[in-house]
Amino acid sequence: MPHHDSPAPSPHAADWWRQAVVYQVYPRSFADSDGDGIGDIPGVTSRLPYLADLGVDAVWLSPFYPSQLADGGYDVADYRDVDPRLGTLDDFDEMVRTAHRLGLKIMVDIVPNHSSDQHVWFQEALAAAPGSAARERYVFRDGRGADGELPPTDWPSSFGGPAWTRVPDGQWYLHLYAPQQPDFNWDNPEVREDFHRTLRFWSDRGVAGFRVDVAHGLAKDLRAPLRDLGEQRSYQPDALPVDGSHPLWDRDAVHEIYRGWRQVFDAYDPPRFAVAEAWVRASRRTAYASAAGLGQAFNFDFLGARLDAAELHTLIDSALADARGAGATSTWVLSNHDVVRHVSRYALPGDCTKRDIEAWLLTDGREPAPDLPAGVRKARAAALLMLALPGSAYVYQGEELGLPEVADLDRADLRDPMWVRSGGRVKGRDGCRVPLPWTREGATFGFGPGGSWLPQPADWGRYAADVQSGDKESFLELYRAALRLRRTLVADEALEWVGSREQTRRGLLHFARAGGWHTVSNLSDEPVPLPRGEVLLASGPLTGDELPPWTSAWLRTGSASDR
Ligand code: NOJ
Repeated sequence: MPHHDSPAPSPHAADWWRQAVVYQVYPRSFADSDGDGIGDIPGVTSRLPYLADLGVDAVWLSPFYPSQLADGGYDVADYRDVDPRLGTLDDFDEMVRTAHRLGLKIMVDIVPNHSSDQHVWFQEALAAAPGSAARERYVFRDGRGADGELPPTDWPSSFGGPAWTRVPDGQWYLHLYAPQQPDFNWDNPEVREDFHRTLRFWSDRGVAGFRVDVAHGLAKDLRAPLRDLGEQRSYQPDALPVDGSHPLWDRDAVHEIYRGWRQVFDAYDPPRFAVAEAWVRASRRTAYASAAGLGQAFNFDFLGARLDAAELHTLIDSALADARGAGATSTWVLSNHDVVRHVSRYALPGDCTKRDIEAWLLTDGREPAPDLPAGVRKARAAALLMLALPGSAYVYQGEELGLPEVADLDRADLRDPMWVRSGGRVKGRDGCRVPLPWTREGATFGFGPGGSWLPQPADWGRYAADVQSGDKESFLELYRAALRLRRTLVADEALEWVGSREQTRRGLLHFARAGGWHTVSNLSDEPVPLPRGEVLLASGPLTGDELPPWTSAWLRTGSASDR
């Protein structure tokens, strides 16, 4: 029995992803079946009915591969296996079968920029001599200085410190992230072939698509002499050169790699889909999202934006235009495993910058004091806004429960390499990775029969799925209702703004989609008149014919052909 109220798109439709709702699972924090305190694949399988009932189309799993967890699994020791702590390939196959039975697609994360230092290739490289074929799969170079004691370039690691680590024979290897994450040399055909093999391996197992980690980093300018970055050391997507001339990021040559991947994807029916994690200028995102490339690229502008109507209006327009230019659809993301959960972000003063939020984490979430009810209200309004936009919505696990950031994790419990590598200046991303609460009671609130690899807050049970289920006012029921309705409402990809610039300036966003589906968001502290129409869903109680502050509503107006 399909779980949806309206006919789901055919599983063979090549464009299933264009307006899909994709749910991100961070496997180690989702559900633990065996009590070792780490979420696992059978845990995911056991909760797939919950996800089907929630109404998502696809589930994207963050890395579940063998890993020493130097970066939460984004340090992959074997691309074609499951971490034994998370299960087996048979468990994976069972998960895919169950997903398909429930009408869900599975997507996996591919981490092509770097492997783990435990990967057999890197171990071989360490054992091999400078200049050997084994070292050519990674980026090994001699150092500078009289005895090669200085790193080959000034390139910084994204987690702090230099991007080079020295090995006992004196050479240095490149890692744009943690030292346990050596960068591959994508000029090497062996690396390219091996990734094709990996893409086929998972595609053959029924995976529908891939999320491509650091998609903008693979093609580096490794010609001798390597160039120092100098002024370009601090990485700002908007400051990257427009012509692809940066030695490390967003080089044009990366697209040739993805054209090769596209051939792999297109050999399947339906063709496999991919979404690029590419922190690049908006104007350069198109190339990643093109049909000859990966197909879609994350748009993180929304995630970084304030809840300001005028800012969002501009941002939505440009995201839609960029996606159209690429022949793709846009993505909409409020949270993921790398950022402070948006309930907490919205609970902070509206003008808080990314840096302010990092500083707030360092005060264990005390300064400034978050206004959690306000954060909840805004997050609910943002959810209805996001889920009404044309394109794909990516929902991060626990977002549907309205989970806040766990900002007061004890420093001794932190696992994110950012914490150590920044010398304690950045607290890192553990606070959004705390295992989910499924039940009000129980030692781990239903996460699993044992412990929890990151401590859960004492009051975590109040957010539990079983507490919220059936409660009409709850976050979970809002998401369920929205996703159910969305299936019946989503038609073409057009969006038309309604209302004047002046209204937007005062905090109102109002747009219409085919079939008379209107979305109004009041992102201000004053109530506004509610436009006429049948109210389908609202993010908070409506008072008479007013749309209260920080509330969104979906309405249907006029005849079916109305915009
Ligand atoms: C982006 C991932 O989302 C993040 O979690 C990871 O640390 C880096 N890429 C490096 O793989």
